[in-house]
Amino acid sequence: MEKSIWVLRIGQRYVRDDRTLTHLCLVSRALGAERIYLEDAEKDVTATLEEVNRTWGGNFEAVLGASWGKTIKEAKKEGRSVIHLTMYGLPIQDVAPALRELDKVLLVVGGPKVPGKVYHEADFNVAVTSQPHSEVAALAIALHEIQNGEELKRAFQKSKLRILPSARGKRVVEN
Ligand SMILES: C[S@@+](CC[C@H](N)C(=O)[O-])C[C@H]1O[C@@H](n2cnc3c(N)ncnc32)[C@H](O)[C@@H]1O
Repeated sequence: MEKSIWVLRIGQRYVRDDRTLTHLCLVSRALGAERIYLEDAEKDVTATLEEVNRTWGGNFEAVLGASWGKTIKEAKKEGRSVIHLTMYGLPIQDVAPALRELDKVLLVVGGPKVPGKVYHEADFNVAVTSQPHSEVAALAIALHEIQNGEELKRAFQKSKLRILPSARGKRVVEN
């Protein structure tokens, strides 16, 4: 059965990094999430995603401005398990079998600072190596592990364009 995955990006940057936020959205969409919650983002993130959906299919959405506390509370209320990605958590290779059993999840990534309460609110604190790196990389690997690679085969409905995978060159057809 296909899982229902939402992503939450916690954090308000002193100087907002719109490129990172856009990459979190694109990675979430491409790798099987339905929705991303962003505490701090400009409205043009939504416009970018609408254009990506129109061109490449699906109906991925971004929800802007919701606080992390409210998002986690509501996710739990509707039966979602909360998986927080942090270098201090348990190795993903050890917990992946348990994570693959979950049908509805909220996958949480941080920015420069994550409030201590998040570690306690989460059902799982999960590390993608115990080394510091990037929320975009951690998110991509976690999405891949949780879905056991099934997300790579997913088709996006109602796209304007479709790529014909090629060994060389670029082949794109209109639907
Ligand atoms: C710039 S990092 C901040 C690193 C932070 N000290 C931490 O707790 O992981 C921003 C976000 O990337 C994710 N991240 C970075 N390295 C990670 C790792 N090794 N495993 C899981 N997530 C990681 C976390 O979600 C983190 O909040």
